[in-house]
Amino acid sequence: MTNTSDSTHIDTSQIVTNQPEADALVLFGATGDLAKRKLFPSLYHLEHSGVLQVPVIGVARSDWSDDEFRAHARESIEQHVDEAEASVIDSLMGRLDLVQGDYADEATWNELVETLDGHGSQTAVFYMAIPPSMFPMVAESLASVGLNQRGRIVVEKPFGRDLESAVELNKTLHSVFAEDHIFRIDHYLGKEAVEDLLVFRFANTLLEPVWNRHYVRSVQVTMSESIGIEGRGNFYEGVGAIRDVLQNHLLQVVALLAMEPPAGSDPGFLQDEKAKVINAMRPIDCSSLVRGQYVGYRDEEGVPEDSEVETYAAARLEIDSWRWAGVPWYVRVGKGLAESATEAVIELKSPPRMLFDEAGSPAPERNLIRLRLGKNDGVTFALQAKTPGPDMDSEEIDVDVDFAAALGERQDAYERLLGDALIGSLRRFARQDVVEGTWRIVQPALDEPGPIYPYFRTSWGPSEASTILVNDDDVWYPPSPSR
Ligand code: NDP
Ligand code: BG6
Repeated sequence: MTNTSDSTHIDTSQIVTNQPEADALVLFGATGDLAKRKLFPSLYHLEHSGVLQVPVIGVARSDWSDDEFRAHARESIEQHVDEAEASVIDSLMGRLDLVQGDYADEATWNELVETLDGHGSQTAVFYMAIPPSMFPMVAESLASVGLNQRGRIVVEKPFGRDLESAVELNKTLHSVFAEDHIFRIDHYLGKEAVEDLLVFRFANTLLEPVWNRHYVRSVQVTMSESIGIEGRGNFYEGVGAIRDVLQNHLLQVVALLAMEPPAGSDPGFLQDEKAKVINAMRPIDCSSLVRGQYVGYRDEEGVPEDSEVETYAAARLEIDSWRWAGVPWYVRVGKGLAESATEAVIELKSPPRMLFDEAGSPAPERNLIRLRLGKNDGVTFALQAKTPGPDMDSEEIDVDVDFAAALGERQDAYERLLGDALIGSLRRFARQDVVEGTWRIVQPALDEPGPIYPYFRTSWGPSEASTILVNDDDVWYPPSPSR
């Protein structure tokens, strides 16, 4: 397969809001885990490609000098970027400053204003890589010194803890920022493979005729991680798998798989279709929900020994739409599982089998379309072909494309989203009605979570997950092995 220059192109000029490009990036939480693992490496790549042209001002409580802050950023890049170029790191370091102080302290805000004034900034991106409990306070403090008039705000996930708090948070943000100045991050929307779902579905005539209840038997979406909670017990105890990834990353993927084609390339049309399909989704029925916890979770630091917080959740979703009524959508997420993968498996209905019956051959297995959305992104069509020999037997053959091999390496999600925030493009951010809709879907699972089942690490989760499958011969398909 070749990488063609006339590949489908989405014109980004149409999706940039009328906001001016940013002239500064302010990173709240610059000393935190997200900044270290994702944001500094992404800034390196933006520096490398020449996209980053503005000062980057960290704001955090740690009592660090500018030099200590730069050393921390340098170390993070060296750890997370393969073969990072020293000259690129040096020019990025030249952009970094730290405003040190507590967000509860007025002096921190005055110093931030002075620093931005010093750079002549009028339009900053304020990126909140901070504990979610601090989002309202930081937004209001920005307004208290007039900075809400001088930029846009990027809000990390989770956006609220449930439907009510998401509505409340939105009200607070709207009291200080206009809607088109609020960028709600879901980094899955920045992943090339997730965005490719739009191209895959709507740029290929092959798929649309079968992409519905007449041909699809079930859809399974798995987001599995082999890692555990990685020492973040305090954080994870307040969240659990449903709030951490199911409500956001996973339901965004489901929306992209299930929605109707947008009316045009304006990003509002895409959001409209996502909102429609999310509205058509029934809230989770707790009898179709299985929660699990990996054995050993309760021994992690910051986790009480009687914790009932789930590290795994599987649910059956129903979408009451013309396209999907009656098709079960199985979703599962979890940590400490056998493989790290994000994969959607579209299981097609069995073909009529008279031909094979008459020949006394076994029924062919069902066709699967496997969409890999994680590190090994790509697509596999599991088709049937005749087994060599005298009989009319068939066996599965895979028609497989690996996107990295076919299309080349792609940018990391955070790099793309930071770049979008700098130019003021909302296309890859979440809209509030979609966020609220996803909370509405998971709300019953938060209100009445039900029992929790143990599972061993490196397994595929608790065996009870099979109880939510509709038919006796339904199975959870393990995602494709990573390569
Ligand atoms: P951390 O706890 O690692 O970092 C929090 C940051 O906030 C630190 O820089 C801390 O500064 C700063 N901070 C906290 N309280 C104050 C305060 N009162 N005044 C000034 N600074 C303060 O969090 P993460 O980086 O893990 O997460 C940040 C956000 O990103 C969260 O919303 C999280 O949900 C989201 N996220 C995180 C991911 C991850 O992998 N870590 C993945 C996806 C989203 P200091 O340390 O100097 O006190
Ligand atoms: C984050 C969750 O949003 O997504 C983490 O808070 C999870 O718990 C991470 O590990 C997974 O992201 P990715 O891009 O590695 O699949």
